[in-house]
Amino acid sequence: MAKKGKIVRISGPVVEAELPDARLYDVVKVGDARLLGEIIKISGNISIIQVYEDTSGLQPGESAVSTGQPLSVELGPGLLQSIYDGIQRPLKVIEEKSGGFYIARGVEADPIDKKKKWEFKATVKKGDRVKIGDILGTVQETELIEHRILAAMEGRIEDIKSGKYTIEEDVGSISFEGKKYPIKLYQRWFVRKARPVIEKFPPNMPLVTGQRIVDTFFPIAKGGTACIPGPFGSGKTVTQQSLAKYSDTQIVVYIGCGERGNEMTEVLKEFPHLEDPNTGKPLMQRTVLIANTSNMPVAAREASIYTGVTIAEYFRDMGYDVALMADSTSRWAEAMREIGGRLEEMPGEEGYPAYLARRLAEFYERAGRVRCLGTKERYGSVSIIGAVSPPGGDLSEPVSQNTLRVTKVFLALDAPLAYRRHFPAINWLKSYTLYHDNLEEWFTENVSSDFLKQVKASMALLQKEAELQEVVQLVGPDALPEKEQAILLVTKMIREDFLQQNAFSDVDARCELDKQYQMLKTILKFSEKTNEALDLGVQLKKIQELAVIGKVGRMKEMPQLKDLEVLQKEIDNSFEGLTRG
Ligand SMILES: Nc1ncnc2c1ncn2[C@@H]1O[C@H](COP(=O)(O)OP(=O)(O)OP(=O)(O)O)[C@@H](O)[C@H]1O
Ligand SMILES: [Mg+2]
Repeated sequence: MAKKGKIVRISGPVVEAELPDARLYDVVKVGDARLLGEIIKISGNISIIQVYEDTSGLQPGESAVSTGQPLSVELGPGLLQSIYDGIQRPLKVIEEKSGGFYIARGVEADPIDKKKKWEFKATVKKGDRVKIGDILGTVQETELIEHRILAAMEGRIEDIKSGKYTIEEDVGSISFEGKKYPIKLYQRWFVRKARPVIEKFPPNMPLVTGQRIVDTFFPIAKGGTACIPGPFGSGKTVTQQSLAKYSDTQIVVYIGCGERGNEMTEVLKEFPHLEDPNTGKPLMQRTVLIANTSNMPVAAREASIYTGVTIAEYFRDMGYDVALMADSTSRWAEAMREIGGRLEEMPGEEGYPAYLARRLAEFYERAGRVRCLGTKERYGSVSIIGAVSPPGGDLSEPVSQNTLRVTKVFLALDAPLAYRRHFPAINWLKSYTLYHDNLEEWFTENVSSDFLKQVKASMALLQKEAELQEVVQLVGPDALPEKEQAILLVTKMIREDFLQQNAFSDVDARCELDKQYQMLKTILKFSEKTNEALDLGVQLKKIQELAVIGKVGRMKEMPQLKDLEVLQKEIDNSFEGLTRG
C-alpha cells in the first residue's frame, strides 16, 4: 500500500512532503536514504513529517513513501535484555551496521532477533476457543522471566505445536469466521495507542521499593504514578535506578533521555552490570532499556516514551507488574518543543507546544493496575516514575507544573540536601503522596495497624523541627526549652538513622517494609521515653549521653528484625536506669 510523494521543504527534523492519501501518524520513509519518519500534521495535500534520523543532506524533490501504517513496536520473546533507540532499533545491531558509535542513517534493523529459536510450550490445544489476550503458550525467555504468548485475535485453535521456533515461524493456526490465520510468537502494536484491558482498578497496594522515605513516608501505589523533580546532580538517576532494582515488580522498562552526551553512556555501561537483588542474576534479564543519547535526533526521543510504555503494557498484559522509569521527561518535552517550533504553531508557555499538558497526561494515564484481557482472570500493573529536570531547579516551569498535575506522588529532590550529602536528597517537607488513603488498609493488614499513625507522628515532628530551626538560627539551640531540644534530638535520628539511605550500601540499599516499620517504631519509642523522663525531671543532658543512641544509629546495618526488638528493650532499660537513678 505504499504511496509515493515528494519532499517540498526541510527544516531540521521536520520535513514537508506532497503525499497522496496521507493519514495522521502513518510512518513514512523519507528521501533516497529512506529515513524513518511519522506524519504529525496534515494541511491540504502537504504532510508534515517528523523524521527520527538526521536529515542533513536531504533535498527537496527527493521521494517520501508512506507505509500506510502508524508507528508500531514488535512484541515477543527477545525483548528482555534489549537496548533500543527510541524507535525500537537495537543499538548494538545498528551500531554494527553503521560501523561505529555514530549511527548511520536509514539503517533498518529487526527489533527482535528473527533467527533465534525459542522453546515454545503450548498451553492450549486443538479445538480450544480463545479470546484476545488468552495465553497460548510460554517461552522461558530469560532465567528470570517466562514470556507468555498472548492471543492477538479470537477464534478456534486449528492446530498448535510445542517445539523450537523463531518468532516468525508458525507455531499453529487459529480460525475465525471461516478463515485461518497463522499463530506466531510475536505481535505488533501501535505505540501511540494504549493496549486495551478489561478493567482498571483504583490502586490499593503499594509498589514496595525498599526505599524508606518512599515506602514509609511517600508511598507509590502499584500501577500508580510518581514524579521525581530535581536540579542537576541531585540524584534523579541514582533514585530511578534504586527504584528499578529494588521495587517488587517483575519487569523493568527504563527509558533514558540523556541530557549530557556521556550520561546515557554511563547508564548503558552501568545497567548491564546491575544485579537483580533477589537472584544475583543480571537485572537486564528482566529489563528492557531504551536509550536516547544526545547525538540521536530529537524526534526519536519524542517517540521513545511511547515505545517504552507500549512494551511495559505488553508485559503487564502477561500478568506481570512492571516498573517504567523515564529519566528525564524534561528531555522528552524539549524534543516536543523543538519539533513544535518547526511547525510554526503558536507556542504555549516558555515555547513548549500547547499540547504539552495533554501529552504528559496521556503518558501517565497509561499507568494502572488492571485486569488483563483474556478469559482467565489475570492481573498486571504498570507503575510510571518520571524524573523531571527543571532548569535551575525552578518547579514553576511548565514541564514540572504539568507533571505535578497528573502524577500522584511527588518526590522532590533538593540541591541543599544533596550538597550536605543527605541521600536520597528527597525533601520530606516538600514531597507528598496522594495514595495514603488508598493504601491504608493494605498497610494495616500487611505491616501494622499503627503504620500510618507512626508516619503521621514522625512527620509532625519533622515539621516542628523546621519551625524550631528558625528559632535556633536566631538564638541558638540552648535557648529552647528542653522538650523542644529533645524534639531536635529525635528528628536528627529520623533524618540520619531513618531517611538517609545509601544507594550503594550492601546491607541498606534495600530495606524491607517490616524493618522500616520497626526502625521508625524504635525512634518513636525513644521519643516517647525521652518525654516521659523529662516529665519526671530527668535532665536532657543525661538522655543525650545514653549509649543506646549510638545503637539507634546502627539500626540500618542490623540484618535481623529481632535485633531491633532487642534494641527497643534496651531503650526501655536505659530509661528505667535514668528515672530510677
Ligand atoms: N541514594 C543515594 N545514595 C548515595 N549517593 C547518592 C544517592 N543519590 C545520589 N547520590 C550521589 O549523587 C550523585 C549524583 O546523582 P545523580 O547522577 O543521580 O543525579 P542526577 O539528578 O541524575 O543528575 P543529572 O542532573 O546530571 O542527571 C551520584 O553520583 C551519587 O554520588
Ligand atoms: Mg541523571
